[in-house]
Amino acid sequence: MTDEGPSGLPRSPGDDDRLWLSVMNKMDETWAELVGQQVELERKNAELEGAHAFMAGVFDSMSDVLVACDTALRVVRTNQAAERLFPAGADGLAGRLLTELVDARSPTTAADVANAIARRQRLEDREFMLAAAAGPMPFAVNGTVLYDARRRPSGVVLAARPLGELRRAYTELDRAHRSLKDAQAQLVQAEKMASLGRLVAGVAHELNNPISFVYGNAHTLRRFTRRLEAYLAAIHAHPRAADFARQRQDLRIDMVLSELDGALSGIVEGAERVRDIVADLRRFSADRRAPGTPFDLAGVARTALDWVLATCGRSVTVHADLDSTLEVDGHAGQMQQVVMNLVQNAVDAMEGIEHPALDIAGARRGGRVCLTIRDNGPGIAPEIMDRIFDPFFTTKPVGKGTGLGLAICYRMVTEHGGLLAASRHPAGGTTMTLDLPAFMPDDGHGNTGGMGA
Ligand SMILES: Nc1ncnc2c1ncn2[C@@H]1O[C@H](COP(=O)(O)OP(=O)(O)OP(=O)(O)O)[C@@H](O)[C@H]1O
Ligand SMILES: [Mg+2]
Repeated sequence: MTDEGPSGLPRSPGDDDRLWLSVMNKMDETWAELVGQQVELERKNAELEGAHAFMAGVFDSMSDVLVACDTALRVVRTNQAAERLFPAGADGLAGRLLTELVDARSPTTAADVANAIARRQRLEDREFMLAAAAGPMPFAVNGTVLYDARRRPSGVVLAARPLGELRRAYTELDRAHRSLKDAQAQLVQAEKMASLGRLVAGVAHELNNPISFVYGNAHTLRRFTRRLEAYLAAIHAHPRAADFARQRQDLRIDMVLSELDGALSGIVEGAERVRDIVADLRRFSADRRAPGTPFDLAGVARTALDWVLATCGRSVTVHADLDSTLEVDGHAGQMQQVVMNLVQNAVDAMEGIEHPALDIAGARRGGRVCLTIRDNGPGIAPEIMDRIFDPFFTTKPVGKGTGLGLAICYRMVTEHGGLLAASRHPAGGTTMTLDLPAFMPDDGHGNTGGMGA
């Protein structure tokens, strides 16, 4: 019997061969296509693996802790920093719930993360307490919501940085900022002092000449008054001097003579006061580069204290706590003047105080010597605190204070490589702190602060 083709017509053996041939050709084509697709697939796979390895390298090289979670807050991926931080389980972190990694006291919780995913919101710098292997640790966390191809949230990536590190960096920045500000304020003060010093030197020089002849002439006039008095007395002793006597009465010569002395005293006193101010101004502006010698600041402070208290006319309770010796290198006379000024200011401040009390303490701390003088006066008002070292700044009545005391002290102390500061004592009153480099016999030059610095 003969085969029939699909059309129902009988098929010849030649038709079968052609059919087989075309099937074979089709199969060859399909195979070649498959091989081509396989090669392309392998190339793409290699590319993907490279990108994957690169991303894993980036993740692991980060010091920040990275945790990726799905929408059920189940960990899907972490980096090495995270694996080092959290207690290691046998199966790693993948599959664990985020709630297990967050400490119960955390200010931000896993629920907040779930909320952020639901609202498609970023988490910015939120404080987390993470349940680290070493115990709860504070972290600043940023979180980014992940999306799938249809823009539906698929999870979240959390990047956490230890807060301690941030705080330390902030504290260091703050400290550097403050010391820069201090240095700037000191520079401004030093420059102010230097230019005022030059101005004051000029003014003092100009004032010195006129005041010396006012002073000198006043003394001469006083001497002349004595002689005139003697002369007039001699004239009036004569019997023919009745006319003179009348004239003497009319012109009130006796009153003039008696007032003359008072007027001269006033001139001398005024001139003396101006002379003292000029001397102060000169001290203020003087260039004191002369080398110093070692001396005991405790002894100097005791003498200064005794001198001021002996002349202040009040009874002041003194509590002194001074180390037996406080060796400093410099000018003992100048430091005595500094302590006297500080004690005088304290005594002035305690004028209206019923039981005036003064605490003076001095001790060596490492390479420094620190002397504090505390009074129980009203204290320095905060609004004038940064002006008290300015030359001519005073709150005392005219004639009582020139406002040069602290400005001179400040200059002398800085020239000794020291610091002079005022503060309000928390229990009331003022504390003045004098801080000087201690004498170091070993280096052969005493302190390192240097005179005339
Ligand atoms: N211990 C203190 N308690 C309160 N205020 C003070 C104290 N020391 C200084 N002051 C304030 O600082 C100001 C300036 O002091 P400074 O010694 O420079 O000048 P002064 O005492 O007024 O005048 P001078 O020292 O020339 O006689 C004072 O007028 C006062 O207001
Ligand atoms: Mg004073």
